[in-house]
Amino acid sequence: MNKPGKWLRYGVLIAATLSAAIGTQARSLEDIQKDGKVIFATEGQFPPFNYFQGTKLSGFEVELAELVAKKMGLTIEWKALGFDALLAGLRQDRWDLVIASHGITDERAKAVTFTNPHYCSGGQVVAMEAGIKTGADLAGKVVAVQTGTTYLESVKKLPGIKEVKNFPKDTDARSALLNGRVDAWVSDRFVVKQALAGAPNAGMKVGDMVFIERIAAAVAKGNASLAAGYNKALAEVMADGSYAALSKKYFGEDVRCK
Ligand code: ARG
Repeated sequence: MNKPGKWLRYGVLIAATLSAAIGTQARSLEDIQKDGKVIFATEGQFPPFNYFQGTKLSGFEVELAELVAKKMGLTIEWKALGFDALLAGLRQDRWDLVIASHGITDERAKAVTFTNPHYCSGGQVVAMEAGIKTGADLAGKVVAVQTGTTYLESVKKLPGIKEVKNFPKDTDARSALLNGRVDAWVSDRFVVKQALAGAPNAGMKVGDMVFIERIAAAVAKGNASLAAGYNKALAEVMADGSYAALSKKYFGEDVRCK
C-alpha cells in the first residue's frame, strides 16, 4: 500500500475543502487577465453612484470601474443584483469584484477584502420637518434606511429611536419619507444632494451627517492579487486627471478621501 500517496490525496482534499471554505477559489488577477474580462457586480439602484438610465447601467461607480478596468487591460461584464446579495456572491465566486458604495467596516472586512477607497462620504439625516436635524433629534422618531447598510447599523445605535424601518432599496426609503410614512431618512450625503436637486419643491430638509465612512470596492476574502491590480489601476486613474474629471461631472467636486 502506498502510504505517502494516500496522505498526499488527503492533503489535496483538505486543501481544496479549506480553500472552498475561505474563498480562495476566487479568480486571481492572472486568471482574469488570461480571460480578458472581469466580472463586476453592483446594485443599480443607488443614484448617482450606480443606477439604470433606461436599460443602461450608469453612474459614478460604473464609469469609474470602466476607467479602472481599462487601465488593467480588461473589459467588464456587469451584473446587477439586490444590495444584500452583493458581498455574499464574492464568497461563492459568482463575480470578481463588487462596487456598490460599501463603507469599509470591520464586520464586512471579516468576510471580504476591501480595495483602497474610491470616495469618502457619510450618512446624513433628511426630514420633512426642519426641527429634525441631528442624530439626537431622531429620538422618538421613525427612521427609514436601506436594508444591510451602514445607515441601518448607525441609526440602530442612536438612543431613543422609536422605530427603524428598513427597505430593500434606498429609493424606497426616500419614498417612505416623501409619503409621510416615516419621520426621517438616512442615506449617503451625495445621494441626498442629488435627491434634493431632483425634487427641490418636495419639502425635504437636509440635516447633519451622523457618521462618516470610506467607500471601497471589494474582492473575495484573500484575493490579494486582484485587490493589488485594482488598487494600482485606481491610483493611476486618480493621478492622471480622469478620476477628477469624472468626479466633477457627477458631483461638481472631487469626492476622493483626503
Ligand atoms: N454606504 C452605505 C453602506 O456602506 C450604503 C451603500 C448602499 N449602496 C447601494 N448600492 N445601495 O452600507
